[in-house]
Order: sequence, then structure tokens, then C-alpha cells
Amino acid sequence: MQSVSFDRAAGFYDATRGYAPGSAERIRDGIVAATNASRSTRFLEIGIGTGRIALPFLAAGYRYAGVDLSRAMLRVLQGKLPGDSPQLVVGDATRLPFADGHADVGIAVHVLHLVADWRATLREAYRVLRRPGGQLLLAGDTGADEDSPDLAAPAPVQAQRAWREILAALGHPVRTGQPGIRLHDPAVRAELEALGAQVHELDLAEYERPPISARTVARGYHDRIYSSDWARPDAIHAEALARLDAWLATCPDPDTPYTLRGRFRAVLARWE
Ligand SMILES: C[S@@+](CC[C@H](N)C(=O)[O-])C[C@H]1O[C@@H](n2cnc3c(N)ncnc32)[C@H](O)[C@@H]1O
Repeated sequence: MQSVSFDRAAGFYDATRGYAPGSAERIRDGIVAATNASRSTRFLEIGIGTGRIALPFLAAGYRYAGVDLSRAMLRVLQGKLPGDSPQLVVGDATRLPFADGHADVGIAVHVLHLVADWRATLREAYRVLRRPGGQLLLAGDTGADEDSPDLAAPAPVQAQRAWREILAALGHPVRTGQPGIRLHDPAVRAELEALGAQVHELDLAEYERPPISARTVARGYHDRIYSSDWARPDAIHAEALARLDAWLATCPDPDTPYTLRGRFRAVLARWE
């Protein structure tokens, strides 16, 4: 598995990963502040998907281009844009179809864990960024359970934990389906520093997630909406679901929707 294309998610990505109203704008404002961007800043998003991060930039008139491995995800994004659309390109993060120094700020949100050769992704981002002065923002949303205390976690968070424990017990931990690397793995920072960057870790925005119940979390695993569930053998997945359903049957609170908090966390590399 070289990279995980989201072709199969194009039809349900927005419905299952969308932010609550106002959150994407708050994230944009956090990125603009952290990168000290202006209207002349050339953004390039690697793994732009259906535009969850990009759309508020485009709505505000920023110069914003994007690349994605998935033609289907790009088609969904294209469908949301007026005729005069920004530069959207099908391409691979490990071989970016852009010239040296093409952009001022590179952005990759929830991408590095999907790319086996994540080091090539960082090298390519470095190549296509202006120097000096280029910046690369690697970012992602915290998992719902990272922001809940261990005791008295709400039912949807407990459902996520139950799923992880079930998969670990079956010898197929969640990460098995992810060929790349976690954003906050020290190897990411080390690679960026080896490329000459100054690296900072930042929380760029806080927000409320759309309300969700434990049963909805479980339905997401049934429907395999997360990329970490795609590569698992069907028999293992079916056994894990049976165990999750047994857990759900004992959950005292399966149908109450909870509004959980989330944070948008980033690793920002700067080349002076
Ligand atoms: C989890 S989605 C994130 C999309 C968007 N950044 C967001 O936050 O909503 C990851 C995206 O990265 C794309 N992707 C995965 N591997 C890639 C690669 N090697 N090159 C370009 N895009 C890639 C997938 O197709 C998918 O659209």
C-alpha cells in the first residue's frame, strides 16, 4: 500500500467529516494568523480532498491551489465552486506536479498517515515552497477521546475506545490500515529539521464537533467510513463488529447525542 486514495469516500466524506458551522472559518483564521499570510500568499494544499479546509480560504479570496490523488474527491470539490475555479490537480504528494518555489505556504491536513513514503512528501513540499520564507503546515483534528477525561467519558468516546480495544485484542490495531506516520511522531520533526526547517507545534483552533451518539459512532465502523477500516480483512472486521455490537448492547446511553470539543493541531515548519 503506497498511499490511501479517498475515491471510495467521495460520496460520504462531507456528511461524516464535516465541521459544525463556523469551525472551518476559525481554522482558516488560525492558519492565516500562524503563517502571517496575506491576500498575495500562494497556498498549496496537498491532499485537498473535497475542500473542507480550502473552501473558507477560497470564499475569502485567497490564492489557493490543491492536489489530490483522488479524482472523485476533487470532482466533489469542483462541484462546489463557481465556474472560475482555482488550480486543482490530480497528483501524488510524493511527486508533486508543481515547479520549484511554486507556493508560499503548503498545507497538508490528515494526509501524512495515508502516505507510506511520507518522507518524500515532506521533501516534495520543501521543493515546491518559496525559499527563503516558505512554510509548511501539517495539521489534523484531535481524536474525540483525546479531549475527554478518562473517567466519565461520554458514550460516543467510550464507543471509540471500545473499538480500539477490540481491534487490538484481535491483533489488528487501528494503525495497521495506515501506511504513513502520525503527525506528532518525533520522526516528522526530525525530517523537517534535517531539511533545514524551524519547527513549532501549535493548537490553531478549538471548536465544537457536530453532535454524535455512541450508536452513530458504531454505525460509522459498520459502514467503514474511516480509511483505517478499509484494509482490514472482512472476517476480522465482522468479528470486531460483533464484539462492538455486544458492547453497545451494554452501553447505558447509546442514543444520546453529545457535542464534543475538538482542537485543530499543527506542526509548522518554516524555512528562513
Ligand atoms: C483524510 S482526507 C483529508 C482531506 C482534506 N485535507 C480535509 O482535511 O478534509 C485525505 C486526502 O488525502 C488524499 N491523499 C492520500 N494520499 C495522497 C497522496 N499520496 N497524494 C495526494 N493526495 C493523497 C486522499 O485522496 C484524501 O482526499
